[in-house]
Amino acid sequence: MIAKIKYLVFVLPFVVLFLACKSETKEPKETPAMTADSLLSVRFENLLKHPLDSIGFPRSYSLAKAEVNKVPSRDWTSGFFPGNLWHVYQLTGNPDFKNRAAQWTSFIEKEKFNDGTHDMGFKVYCSFGQGTKVEQTETYEKIIVESAKTLSTRFNKNVGSLRSWDFNKDIWEFPVIIDNMMNLELLFEATRISGDSTFHDIAVSHANTTLKNHFRKNNSSYHVVVYDTINGAVKDKVTHQGFDASSAWARGQAWGIYGYTMSYRYTNDIAYLNQAKASLAFYLDHPNMREDGIPFWDFNDPAIPMAVRDVSAATIVASACYELYGYDKNPEYKTYADKVLKTLMSKKYLLEPEVEAPFILKHSTGNWPKKDEIDEPIVYGDYYFLEALLRQKNL
Ligand code: GLY
Repeated sequence: MIAKIKYLVFVLPFVVLFLACKSETKEPKETPAMTADSLLSVRFENLLKHPLDSIGFPRSYSLAKAEVNKVPSRDWTSGFFPGNLWHVYQLTGNPDFKNRAAQWTSFIEKEKFNDGTHDMGFKVYCSFGQGTKVEQTETYEKIIVESAKTLSTRFNKNVGSLRSWDFNKDIWEFPVIIDNMMNLELLFEATRISGDSTFHDIAVSHANTTLKNHFRKNNSSYHVVVYDTINGAVKDKVTHQGFDASSAWARGQAWGIYGYTMSYRYTNDIAYLNQAKASLAFYLDHPNMREDGIPFWDFNDPAIPMAVRDVSAATIVASACYELYGYDKNPEYKTYADKVLKTLMSKKYLLEPEVEAPFILKHSTGNWPKKDEIDEPIVYGDYYFLEALLRQKNL
């Protein structure tokens, strides 16, 4: 009897293990496939989970290193993460996003005195500006006006533009980049809030100068135009982030389309609307545009079709298209924007649920010439995606 019990004690665990393995092979455990909507919810939760850090704003995510690239508030991208939280609050109504957005936004206030950059609009308007759409806060409005005052110090009357960068001073006397159109929203808003027309006038002058000098005959845009500060003449037309001086850098096209659509909102100047539409036609009709609506990072990269894409360019244009559709009911505008959102709401573009990083979309390209942030999740790709979702919802 004792021998029998000993035998059972020894053998039983093996029998149980064998049966367990058998049932495992016969009926593999199936996790239900996640829908794009539930994937998006997981990505939203990851924005909340990311710990508060007043000196480390999430900018991009290296898939290779599994590492979040964080930047201080002086970086041009700092406003996008708080902006994403404001957007998600508006999309979901979950107050946790609003509270977290307000906390991250407050870390940017000191930038209102930083006169060493033209990126004030990106930093302050994407954070405090989005906050004013959710809460009527006088404090935020004061910060917007103060920031506009600081940004205005970069305006040169002879050129009629705001100076973009301060680096490369030995070769670029006064560089203006197409991206700078995006900072005008802060100036237009500062006039609306304060009644002081100075900001509006500077924005209009900048938009007119850019309109005159940044666009080619085919309505694509140069990235950088360099001016003479004394007589305002154009000295050079070059690129910093595109393939070369004559190429059409996809995000640069996007900034132009969005910038002139937004400038039309504040001015009713038909020349701005026409430029936005003409540049959009160049972008949509380009033979190198992809069927799914996500462009290569530069329309003229000779590596096409092997070149990387830039999701951020697509989301900026999609968001602009919804606004443009409000001014001109060309069905192409809404069709493109809807297509981009549909493409991106898929496993190919949504970051996997198990990645614990505060980002939503893959496949943006930051600075190709510098081999920096290539084909990665980048915070501004998410920002304009969320803005486009909101605009689609509010159409
Ligand atoms: N300078 C802004 C951008 O990289 O698009």
